[in-house]
Amino acid sequence: MEQNILLGVRDLRVSFRLDKHSKLPPFEAVKGVSFDIPINSTVALVGESGSGKSVTSLAILGLLPPENSLVLPGSQILYGGRNLLTLSNTELRALRGKDISMIFQEPMSSLNPVFTVGYQIAEVLRLHMGLSPRQARARVLELLDEVGIPDPAAKSAAYPFQLSGGQQQRVMIAMAIACNPKLLIADEPTTALDVTIQKQILELLAALQDKHRMSVLFITHDLAVVGEIADQVVVMRNGEIRENGATDAVFRNPRDAYTQALLKCRPPLEQRPQRLAVIEDFMNTATPPPEPAQRTRGLSGNEPIILEVSHLGKSFYSREGLFGRVTTFLPCRSISSRTTSAASRLFFKIPMPRSTRVSRWGRFFRSLY
Ligand SMILES: Nc1ncnc2c1ncn2[C@@H]1O[C@H](COP(=O)(O)OP(=O)(O)OP(=O)(O)O)[C@@H](O)[C@H]1O
Ligand SMILES: [Mg+2]
Repeated sequence: MEQNILLGVRDLRVSFRLDKHSKLPPFEAVKGVSFDIPINSTVALVGESGSGKSVTSLAILGLLPPENSLVLPGSQILYGGRNLLTLSNTELRALRGKDISMIFQEPMSSLNPVFTVGYQIAEVLRLHMGLSPRQARARVLELLDEVGIPDPAAKSAAYPFQLSGGQQQRVMIAMAIACNPKLLIADEPTTALDVTIQKQILELLAALQDKHRMSVLFITHDLAVVGEIADQVVVMRNGEIRENGATDAVFRNPRDAYTQALLKCRPPLEQRPQRLAVIEDFMNTATPPPEPAQRTRGLSGNEPIILEVSHLGKSFYSREGLFGRVTTFLPCRSISSRTTSAASRLFFKIPMPRSTRVSRWGRFFRSLY
């Protein structure tokens, strides 16, 4: 393997047996995939749903389900002169988190709901870096600060459900970078977040990559994100690589018909078609796609109001202090048109609101609570 290559995937083949008693042949999810991740660079793995992106990344970390998956002979994942596919579970556990770490799409399902976030980050530090509890506690605060969590001391004592989605993802990132890994695998880390938070998280990842000089394998189906952050792009479809190269070159001059279709499918900013283009519109080059009819932009002003929210408020009980004093904070105060997840949870009665006026189709909904 070349000097500047951190990790090399060679002819990776992964099959799944769908049912123990089935006579059907195993399903081949990844069919001989090869690509390199250079040192200190971001490689984007893109492709439609089911193309084998997550299976490839789970294979790198040895996290495929042992009960029904099979990595076929001849597959190699080369890292530090070793084929990771031949390592024992103990060797893999030592490598995960320390050399290679991963963040997932859904932070809430990756964080343990019964431990505070500070405890969970500290555990990584104690396990891999051998820090004492006191050292780990101090480092947790530094890490939370580095990933942009406000008031790290208070937030480290919070449980995952007490944080917003963006904050939970920042906690996952803090855990992932805690041991200065050489490779961070980010599997669609921003798809569960709204666009502004998405941008902040992408900027954070780019800044951390630069600062820690780590490589990032960024899995996404969002080509706009690829253009922003990736040095190289690997395009997958049906378990195979369709194109692989420097992002600029692939975006300017895609050679593969599927990559060309993928790029043409990007929703136009300046138009509002009745129907968004799909890959198949561009794969069949014999018949060019019909010019899509346009929708009119904006509202006429005569649309009926279906939901109106005013004076919605909620305070969360956060800490019981000296002499039973309770401190509270307000995540939403007199929200009117904007809906946050806290606000929408209030509307659906989870949990009780402090004060609310919600009306729908003219009916006053306070009685719901
Ligand atoms: N545990 C499993 N058992 C059986 N089949 C699986 C398993 N995990 C993944 N697959 C199959 O492998 C194929 C690739 O899945 P994978 O999760 O890698 O897709 P993906 O490219 O990450 O898609 P997405 O963008 O939706 O996350 C899919 O057809 C999926 O059904
Ligand atoms: Mg996936």
